[in-house]
Amino acid sequence: DGQIPHTFVVFGASGDLAKKKIYPTLWWLYRDDLLPKPTKICGYARSKMTIDQLKSLCEPYMKVQPHEQLKYHEFWRLNNYVFGPYDDARGYQLLKQHLESIENRLNANRIFYLALPPTVYNQVTFHIKHYCMSKGGWNRVIVEKPFGRDDVTSKALSDHLAGLFEEEQLYRIDHYLGKEMVQNLMTIRFGNKILSSTWNRENIACVLITFKEPFGTQGRGGYFDEFGIIRDVMQNHLLQILSLVAMEKPCSCHPDDIRDEKVKVLKCIKPLELSDMVLGQYVGNPDGSTAEEQCGYLDDPTVSKTSNTPTYAMAVIQINNERWQGVPFILRCGKALNERKAEVRIQYQDVPGDIFEGNSKRNELVIRVQPGEALYFKMMTKSPGITFDIEETELDLTYEHRYKHSVLPDAYERLILDVFCGSQMHFVRSDELREAWRIFTPILHKIEHERIPPIPYAYGSRGPTEADRKCVENNFIYSASYKWHGHKAD
Ligand code: BG6
Repeated sequence: DGQIPHTFVVFGASGDLAKKKIYPTLWWLYRDDLLPKPTKICGYARSKMTIDQLKSLCEPYMKVQPHEQLKYHEFWRLNNYVFGPYDDARGYQLLKQHLESIENRLNANRIFYLALPPTVYNQVTFHIKHYCMSKGGWNRVIVEKPFGRDDVTSKALSDHLAGLFEEEQLYRIDHYLGKEMVQNLMTIRFGNKILSSTWNRENIACVLITFKEPFGTQGRGGYFDEFGIIRDVMQNHLLQILSLVAMEKPCSCHPDDIRDEKVKVLKCIKPLELSDMVLGQYVGNPDGSTAEEQCGYLDDPTVSKTSNTPTYAMAVIQINNERWQGVPFILRCGKALNERKAEVRIQYQDVPGDIFEGNSKRNELVIRVQPGEALYFKMMTKSPGITFDIEETELDLTYEHRYKHSVLPDAYERLILDVFCGSQMHFVRSDELREAWRIFTPILHKIEHERIPPIPYAYGSRGPTEADRKCVENNFIYSASYKWHGHKAD
């Protein structure tokens, strides 16, 4: 774009997401000279505030090193802040004038980031369209989840946005698409003959996609109780990973070719039923070492005492196509579990015609998203030495060993940079979103309307034992004999 100025407008600038994620990300991009020059930033929110106040709100999250002070100071000099209401044109007129003055009336490109509660999306986007669009440059709008809470509300939001902006101007963030190993899925699958040839029902027994967090709602109980773990993590982050693991090869790496394939594979999935799921809710662990661990979900004062909202969910998904029929894709996610981990586990079938008296274990390809990015392949080997026994071992690509000096940027850094570059590859298209809601809406409604009770599990445990049983029923064999040592925290 050469010398064309860019303006990044943060709506909800005084809020949680802005201070914890958006401002820090903008600072890191600026620090690493990745933002186009010149870029200016303008916050907008209801609170009356000065830039210095905004700066101190963000301070704890910015991770400024002593030698970066000068640059950090420069960064804040690019910042502006306008306060005003979300529901009244006057605030936006003020913002418009402000934008024009900081852009020196040049035809700047504008990015609008909605770090806002969904209740104000409609009015804010309406006013952006009517008062704040750049006339000579491009305009792009970044939207954060929740994109509605079921198929109907999500469609209403999509229709509203489609009435104001072109799909090419809309960037729906699913920050899992900004993670190194999630972005790597395409390369792993389509850049390796050995994997692409075995990536099918003839070879794979089961696929397990896991998200675990070792903490509870941590003060987000109010938001969480309305949404639950299925909407918070499964319907977006885990389903996105599933579509990248399961889709057919796109005809190119063009964003729309990729997203066409993702939509296509989602269309092969039927809406989930209760029998496909295990639902859980954590209770306090009386033996827990901290007060937090002793508190259950229902002890959170912002959560209704009779809530049946799941904090843990497992779903077994069947993909009805030629590649995958009969291979269960198990999605599981939960809060207040025993560890922090996100990974994809591709479990291969048993070797036919066993000659090792049942001692051979299944191959498994593990794509570890976090913490400690890694790709490792569990395989059998002859035990080294004089013996002829066999044992499990691994081919291990642990990033902190193999790529010691590479820096892996945070998901938000990549994604925000993508918006500057106009790449929608790692953003959710509206038809993908529609398919995701089609799969999950009936079960979400059933859980709410019939008040389906979740199974209690202790804070810090592996989740409900019913889930382990469901894995076994779905041809996932857990071999307790093996432990991967790649990541220190394990
Ligand atoms: C968010 C969810 O989308 O993802 C949170 O709303 C969750 O509940 C978070 O904690 C996890 O993100 P990450 O990047 O820490 O794995």
